[in-house]
Amino acid sequence: MKQNANKDERTLMDAMKPHGQALLDYYGGDTSVEMILERDDGLQVRLPVSVFFRTPDTFFPLEDAAIELCKGRVLDIGAGTGLHALALQERGHTVTALDISPEAVDVMKRCGVMDVRIGDIFRFPPEPFDTLLLLGHGIGMVENLAGLDRFLKRMKAFLEPDGQLLINSMDVTVTDDPQHLMYHQSNIQACRYAGEIRLRILYKDLVGDWYSWLHVDADTLEKHGAEFGWKTDVIAHEVDGNYLARLTVGS
Ligand SMILES: C[S@@+](CC[C@H](N)C(=O)[O-])C[C@H]1O[C@@H](n2cnc3c(N)ncnc32)[C@H](O)[C@@H]1O
Repeated sequence: MKQNANKDERTLMDAMKPHGQALLDYYGGDTSVEMILERDDGLQVRLPVSVFFRTPDTFFPLEDAAIELCKGRVLDIGAGTGLHALALQERGHTVTALDISPEAVDVMKRCGVMDVRIGDIFRFPPEPFDTLLLLGHGIGMVENLAGLDRFLKRMKAFLEPDGQLLINSMDVTVTDDPQHLMYHQSNIQACRYAGEIRLRILYKDLVGDWYSWLHVDADTLEKHGAEFGWKTDVIAHEVDGNYLARLTVGS
């Protein structure tokens, strides 16, 4: 896709490059690899790449709940290594797994995901699905609240009647860590939503471009969804601010 990608897609693909390379290395047998997520206030978090290769027996409770709720034909958006797509295939679902990262797509194909597509959800041509799935905080790809609105407006064209959109995100304000609190406060002072994070990925000698990632709390998701005719039900909420929401479009 690279040669056909437009500027926005290339920027995102370049930002995801270290992530994709880390996935390929792990899949290639280097299971000790870690990547670093660097926030633009300097905070660095080391992330073992093994987390992207979780198997169903180690899924988080919110993931189990989402898998249980899936019905019919599923679009796994930002599917990563295809961990959820594979679990759904095992259960007999027809799954299309979409990711913008060529390396993630390569890993998914090698892992046995049957219908893998490469691309940006904002450019992927609409097809009808019964379930649109965004796990692992994948809704972050919309970048900010304006992007969330664009996404919520666009995704209605992807839904079969009675279809659903399953989103796992988090309320970033559920923390007492002073550095996080200061970061959220500086976002608010800059007239940004608290959960709009700017970060880049470092892996070995690769340094990705800076990109934005949205963590949206359930009330804000519900409010923005309602503007585009979505009804939001919070299925489960965890003490750390993580939650799973199911959005449907009323008739
Ligand atoms: C945080 S990872 C989550 C992966 C997987 N869903 C999981 O739970 O492990 C987000 C994924 O979304 C992909 N992605 C980011 N922006 C995207 C976009 N605009 N369209 C499609 N995929 C995107 C990334 O390449 C990455 O694999």
